[in-house]
Amino acid sequence: MPDLLEDMRRTHSCCELGVDDIGKEVILMGWVLRRRDHGGVIFVDLRDREGLTQVVFNPAVDPAVHEKAHAIRNEFVLAVRGKVDPRPKGMVNPNLRTGTIEVLVTELKILNVAKTPPFLIEDDIDVSENIKLKFRHLDLRRPTMQRNLVLRHKAAASVRNFLNDRGFLDIETPVLTRSTPEGARDYLVPSRVNPGQFYALPQSPQIFKQLFMISGFDRYYQIVRCFRDEDLRADRQPEFTQIDIEMSFVGEEDILATTEQMMAALFKDVLDLDLSPPFSRLSYDEAVGRFGLDKPDTRFDLELKDISDIVAGCGFKVFSQVVKKGGIVKALNAKGCIDFSRKEIDDLTDFVSVYRAKGMAWIKVRENEWQSPIVKFFTDDEKKALAERIEMEPGDLVFFVADQPKVVNESLGNLRNHLGQRLKLIDENQYQFLWVTRFPMFEFDQTEKRYQALHHPFTSPLEEDYGKLKDDPTAVRSRAYDIVLNGFEIGGGSIRIHQNEIQQKVFETLGMDRETYEAKFGFLLSALESGAPPHGGIAIGFDRLVMLLCGESSIRDVIAFPKTQKAACLMTGAPSAAAKEQLEELNLRLRPGMG
Ligand code: AMO
Ligand code: AMP
Repeated sequence: MPDLLEDMRRTHSCCELGVDDIGKEVILMGWVLRRRDHGGVIFVDLRDREGLTQVVFNPAVDPAVHEKAHAIRNEFVLAVRGKVDPRPKGMVNPNLRTGTIEVLVTELKILNVAKTPPFLIEDDIDVSENIKLKFRHLDLRRPTMQRNLVLRHKAAASVRNFLNDRGFLDIETPVLTRSTPEGARDYLVPSRVNPGQFYALPQSPQIFKQLFMISGFDRYYQIVRCFRDEDLRADRQPEFTQIDIEMSFVGEEDILATTEQMMAALFKDVLDLDLSPPFSRLSYDEAVGRFGLDKPDTRFDLELKDISDIVAGCGFKVFSQVVKKGGIVKALNAKGCIDFSRKEIDDLTDFVSVYRAKGMAWIKVRENEWQSPIVKFFTDDEKKALAERIEMEPGDLVFFVADQPKVVNESLGNLRNHLGQRLKLIDENQYQFLWVTRFPMFEFDQTEKRYQALHHPFTSPLEEDYGKLKDDPTAVRSRAYDIVLNGFEIGGGSIRIHQNEIQQKVFETLGMDRETYEAKFGFLLSALESGAPPHGGIAIGFDRLVMLLCGESSIRDVIAFPKTQKAACLMTGAPSAAAKEQLEELNLRLRPGMG
């Protein structure tokens, strides 16, 4: 086979030619975005990963080449040789980097033809996401997707440079492993050579990176894939990437400072933005108290107000009963929203019902009166106290939810975010970092009737709370921290347990007996007895971070080959049925009717 490109080597990319190149002979290669036939002269927008150049086939320049150009269609792959020419007056395109020039083609090679694509390779085209995911290789040709993946690469490169310069070692960890509990379901892989046994894919390299510390690799990082079988959302994928970090002989401050410097370097390298660490900090209690969520978007105010004490004895039974039963009542003042219609309020009530709120009361604050189905239940003193606490002014619309704290906070916290967007209270050009610290160590799971670790079971409790591990687990605070950016949890970590006894106590609090934790984590417990240094770390959700850097609203837009809500890859058709022989080899049998 002769080399099609033997006498042609690319001299430039399709983005870089300008007035300085006028008169030069250049060779460009790329894809046909558009072809326009203007009464004899054919114009083609030639696209590569960097950008676009207009190339011109003019019969006056070369009739044979012009003739050949008639065959060109969208997405054909071309090599062209030509001369850089200034565009005629009036034809300059100021929106295009190469908009001052065009290339008059003297030689054309059609390197490959292409079928008409199922959609135009342009941003903002009206085509369903499923079609785009099915033809992901074409969707990835769009300028935005190219920019996103280039930016993702730059972000990873920046992180590697930063950490390499500070002595961190990039060490790989296994993908076929045992369950690594991070609170999600495991993906299991059957073992052929060990019939009936399974590997789990790692939910994170948590235990391995702790073992690295015990082995003496005192600074570790990895940009690593993690797998979690959980309900998917715009910011959750079944496989996702973490910037995973662990350090020995450190406390919280070292890890927070390292992370802040890494973020500052990253934002400088990728967006040329100067962040100003240290980032602000809120305790978990304060974050949830003021904003309802442990990942508050602090780009706008609209804080929740706890009014439980004011309404504890009021005539509105929904409120007073809830307080009596240990619940709380909180208010959210939607400033200036008095004109919301009945239907709009009903829709917002439906919105909070997703977070299990059983109802949402409201008050419209008019000049001389309150308009509300519940106003009749309050005494003048209660009204006065409410008006003061909630800072009610004419024009306001105040929402109330009464329930257990979790329901109230999640309902109003998410309503707060919703209203922040809807009322345009958010400056979209701002990057607000926040540390949330002092998490509770455990949460009581009402359905399972047992305690669960809020982070993971290897997080160290605060030393002063060690004594409460046995009798008052929910009062134990942990040495965990999360990093939040614009209302997204982009990372989390902790100082770890490095003493065997404390680790055992935590397992016991989680309801495991010795036999169970020895079977599951005996290797870690034994390592903790072999000279484990104090250590801690963090993992940054790389996809979420890149999503925010790109200004996208879904991590699917920054992952080359993402999965759908149903965890499917529409392009390859994964997951798919296994052949009977394969199942037999793995000693697996499907339930009747399942394929
Ligand atoms: P954690 O479980 O908080 O901590 O995960 C760290 C960060 O990873 C991101 N993340 C996800 N991103 C996309 N899709 C998902 N399904 C998904 N799940 C989590 C989030 C999250 O903040 N081993 C600990 C870290 C440590 O303690 O060092 C861990 O994995 O941005
Ligand atoms: P009802 O007495 O059930 O008609 O409720 C009167 C008002 O209180 C309605 O606007 C309900 O939406 C609201 N409401 C009911 N339950 C709650 C609750 N748990 N928290 C806040 N408001 C509620």
